[in-house]
Amino acid sequence: MPISIFPVTPRFAAEIGDIDLGQPLDGETLDAVRTAFATYGVLAFPAQSLTQEQHLAFARNFGPLEVTVQRALRNEKLRVPEQFADIANLDAEGRLWKKDARIRLFQMGNRLWHTDSSFKAPSGYASMLYARSVAPIGGHTEFADLRAACDALPAATRARLQGLIAEHSLLYSRRKLGFTEFTPEEKVAFKPVLRPLLRRIPESGRESLYIASHIGRIGGMSDAETETLVAELTAHATQRQFVYTHRWRVGDLVMWDNRCTMHRGTDFEDTRWPRDLQRVTTSDRRDAFGAEEKASALAADY
Ligand code: OGA
Ligand code: MN
Repeated sequence: MPISIFPVTPRFAAEIGDIDLGQPLDGETLDAVRTAFATYGVLAFPAQSLTQEQHLAFARNFGPLEVTVQRALRNEKLRVPEQFADIANLDAEGRLWKKDARIRLFQMGNRLWHTDSSFKAPSGYASMLYARSVAPIGGHTEFADLRAACDALPAATRARLQGLIAEHSLLYSRRKLGFTEFTPEEKVAFKPVLRPLLRRIPESGRESLYIASHIGRIGGMSDAETETLVAELTAHATQRQFVYTHRWRVGDLVMWDNRCTMHRGTDFEDTRWPRDLQRVTTSDRRDAFGAEEKASALAADY
């Protein structure tokens, strides 16, 4: 049976039915998912029932699996295998985080508009986030369409962004939360990478902004110019007409394209309600821009 595609918004988010992600997907089904993914950028697959292995197997259809940044963080014991980014508010023993736990404050970076792994080389392509338990109220995930936001930029702004290169690092987004103390290992792991502010997405041919709270510098600009430009672009890109809000149900798997979307988690009582979301993210095989050599060559222009 062919999959069912139910658009939630005309060009950004769709729900997909008549598919069991726990089974290996045949070529035709996979093509249909790929086509929908290129069109929409955010796909929600409700009522799935997945083991971690099945989740990983589905993700492998979209490229090589990343390893979580949490492995590079000081003193953090992992609750889930390293191919998962742990988006839960639970410690390694499955207890709710304490209010002042470092990992809790660190993960608050997920409440800032961002895209996954723009600070890695190669950068992130598809994220697949699966809900094992959800908060009764709050704890939604919002997504912004950076292609539509790009289309809506004034021509003069778009021309000004052409050719601009930004430095992305997890250290920059965490600095915004007041984190300034990083171990030497963390500094090496999160060394900034260079990314264009505008990019074209090969599958759809659409141009997209590529912005995130991970940006800390833009080539040729002062810190003040960088911060104001990123704030203005983020405000533009996250206007309601570009945003889809996902209200989680247990068993939802939501998949998004990190090359042309931003997202953020919304507030909830995270020291009261467990919320167990687990994410697998794949690397962008086509990311030539992330190559170290090219990055250092461009750094020389600063
Ligand atoms: C993510 C993420 C935010 C949230 O899964 O990458 O940033 O809490 N999630 O929903
Ligand atoms: Mn994220």
